[in-house]
Amino acid sequence: MAMLEIKNLQIEFGSGARAARAVDGVSLSLEAGKTLCLVGESGSGKSVTALSIARLVPSPPARYVGGEILLEGRDVLKMSSRELRDIRGGLVSYVFQEPGASLNPVFRIGAQIKESLKYHRPAAANDAEVIRLLKLVGISEVIAFVVVLDIALHCSAAR
Ligand SMILES: Nc1ncnc2c1ncn2[C@@H]1O[C@H](COP(=O)(O)OP(=O)(O)OP(=O)(O)O)[C@@H](O)[C@H]1O
Ligand SMILES: [Mg+2]
Repeated sequence: MAMLEIKNLQIEFGSGARAARAVDGVSLSLEAGKTLCLVGESGSGKSVTALSIARLVPSPPARYVGGEILLEGRDVLKMSSRELRDIRGGLVSYVFQEPGASLNPVFRIGAQIKESLKYHRPAAANDAEVIRLLKLVGISEVIAFVVVLDIALHCSAAR
């Protein structure tokens, strides 16, 4: 079974004669471990399609007019808000187009990663796991240590 299957998705903004169809009959299928790229001109609906996978296009103003978004066989468009909270940041995560605007600069990145761990994997919500995850994406241990713990960068670099 495909991990993600979108069937004939249709999303509109506005209603009646002024409705604009942003996504018009998109279908795609993604197997676990594979990568799928959506390519299209600006305004063609790539972001709206991708955001709809975790129902992150707010409704209103959007209207999910038709189709299905099956995540491991479950239709996202039929999920309760509780079910949606469970998949967001767990089964479905995003690296947004402008990461600088997505992370809160007031909080260290370690605290922000831990927030998601607390919800989805509480037993792993600790500094060691945050550092392991940062190293997985190529952030070195010293830097990872600094972003997790409140230690000045020059102190760590001097070691
Ligand atoms: N909140 C909104 N209210 C009204 N229209 C919207 C909203 N969000 C997106 N749209 C419209 O939906 C259409 C698809 O937008 P979308 O952002 O998905 O395009 P895109 O393919 O990701 O473009 P880009 O390559 O510029 O990122 C556009 O016409 C856009 O104006
Ligand atoms: Mg976009």
